[in-house]
Amino acid sequence: MNLDYVREEFEQRAFDYDGLIPRLIPHYREQHDLILQLIPFETNANIKVLDLGAGTGILSALILQAFPQAKVLAFDMAENMLKICQTNLSAFGKRLTLQQGNFAEADFGSGYDLVVSGLAIHHLDSAGKQQLFHQLFQSMNPEGILLIRDIVTGATPKLTEQYEKLWRQYMKASGEDDAAWFQNYLKEDIPSSVEEQTKWLAEAGFANAACHWRYLNFAIFGGVVRK
Ligand SMILES: C[S@@+](CC[C@H](N)C(=O)[O-])C[C@H]1O[C@@H](n2cnc3c(N)ncnc32)[C@H](O)[C@@H]1O
Repeated sequence: MNLDYVREEFEQRAFDYDGLIPRLIPHYREQHDLILQLIPFETNANIKVLDLGAGTGILSALILQAFPQAKVLAFDMAENMLKICQTNLSAFGKRLTLQQGNFAEADFGSGYDLVVSGLAIHHLDSAGKQQLFHQLFQSMNPEGILLIRDIVTGATPKLTEQYEKLWRQYMKASGEDDAAWFQNYLKEDIPSSVEEQTKWLAEAGFANAACHWRYLNFAIFGGVVRK
């Protein structure tokens, strides 16, 4: 899938993203409580954070709110998503920086204590994910934490089929056109299993590479940097 196509889709969806996304992703808001609980730093820690595929800034906002000394780089390829991010998070002033770029090829900096990424890395194919995990490991400080929440496949094709069927039921029950969204997913998304991705994280150097939560074809997983 051409990333230009994905970027164009997000440029258009930016304006209703915040209202729409909980109707498409089961337990979307509940995931945020767990993501925060999985961050091991003291509340007053002076941490440098990267939000990869930040979109309208939901994960950046959570972190800036919970860690008043944190500084966050919200990185995204869609200009309109970043514009809304800037508006939504204006109260955080200079603690938030925005950068537009494609994380498959751009330099997103280094020295990060925490990297979060929500619903973005599945746009890369298997090789792209593995390359990104290596780059992320290099970009992070010792004891840094990586937390990814993403759409994933099941461990087997049969499980994937079962999860996707139940996911479609969720979207339909939320009032969405599940057939249209599912077609869109087949066209745009390249999910990998959480089993493969935790293996790739370990191969990239991350310790404690593991899945922390999963519900059907959605998971929160990551690792720790021990250098
Ligand atoms: C579904 S939104 C997720 C927003 C937010 N992180 C969340 O958890 O709700 C995915 C975002 O990732 C961005 N994205 C996808 N692939 C990207 C890439 N290769 N480089 C930069 N941004 C990317 C899209 O532009 C979009 O804003």
